[in-house]
Amino acid sequence: MHLLNQIIKRAQSNPQRIVLPESTEIRTLKAADIVLKDKIAKIILIGDRQEILSLAEKENLNHVAHASFINPETDDIQKYVQLLYDLRKSKGMTMEEAEKLAKDPLYLACLMIKQGDADGELAGAQNTTGNVLRPAFQIIRTKPGISIVSGAFLMFTPTPQYGEEGLFVFADCAVNPNPSASELAEIALSSAETAQALAGVQPKVAMLSFSTKGSASHELVDKVTEAVKCAQKANPDLLVDGELQADAAIVPSVGKSKAPGSNIAGQANVLVFPDLQSGNIAYKLVERISGTLAIGPILQGMAAPVNDLSRGCSVEDIVNMIAITANQAMK
Ligand code: ACO
Repeated sequence: MHLLNQIIKRAQSNPQRIVLPESTEIRTLKAADIVLKDKIAKIILIGDRQEILSLAEKENLNHVAHASFINPETDDIQKYVQLLYDLRKSKGMTMEEAEKLAKDPLYLACLMIKQGDADGELAGAQNTTGNVLRPAFQIIRTKPGISIVSGAFLMFTPTPQYGEEGLFVFADCAVNPNPSASELAEIALSSAETAQALAGVQPKVAMLSFSTKGSASHELVDKVTEAVKCAQKANPDLLVDGELQADAAIVPSVGKSKAPGSNIAGQANVLVFPDLQSGNIAYKLVERISGTLAIGPILQGMAAPVNDLSRGCSVEDIVNMIAITANQAMK
């Protein structure tokens, strides 16, 4: 069975409460209708119930009525205002600011998760990555032992001879512009967990560079070799190696010749990029040029799941990401 079908089936086995702050965005509403029809998750829509339902009616989205609704303009959200104030007062937030911000659906969604009233959030069809991530960073924060959130993609490539029968995890392609060596190591650990927990594969992590095992000397290469050491120290059982060029990471013959003795060279299924420029460019090029299905960004390292969509996403992308968010919430 295709991995995405498995992820949807897993979500259906234990429906999680997923909050959608962009409730009048039409692709989001169509996705919510499918998710409710197929019982993939319980949906919470933020906004005016009447306005949302009349929009749904115009589009013949009959299942949207089965969602839960919260309207920050008319419902009592005082407990969320207080929570936001308590969480952010040490950063200088006033009660007046908390009252205003808690009405922002992107903030309210995170506050609902923090309060235990929702299990995960998906947004980004309308809002930028920064606007989706900032409230999540401020309110939900990272998992214990992790200091940065990063963004991974499941890359379903048409080349079964590479990766895990064509499947790769690419990271960080979405969040951290220029991670330090220790942050890069954290991205490797989080990506390995995503590969294992979400894709069910044994992670073989390659830390990518323009150099393989000392073929070039540069401070950018040093950052990657330092990150490999940090990742190995943090998890001695993790199959991780670097620095590796992309061909040495995924092509068995090249891996053998450029990195003999490596435990993953030529077989990597998790590719960790040295910075956001390379990660973001790589995933978009692979997606467009090779006809790869790229699912993400899947945010990893957050204490509870919040995921961001590309503004160019399709209804199907949103349904898949709701299922992925629900899977993360079940962990
Ligand atoms: N993980 C966890 N927390 C973080 C992270 C992180 N990676 N980055 C910032 N934070 C926290 C900070 O610690 C801070 O917390 P505090 O207020 O409690 O002290 C808070 O978030 C705000 O930090 P800033 O440094 O002010 O972060 P800023 O809001 O400026 O930027 C952002 C964060 C928006 C995510 C920035 O890193 C960014 O723009 N990244 C690039 C996003 C992007 O454009 N990606 C490409 C498009 S996505 C795509 O193509 C799929």
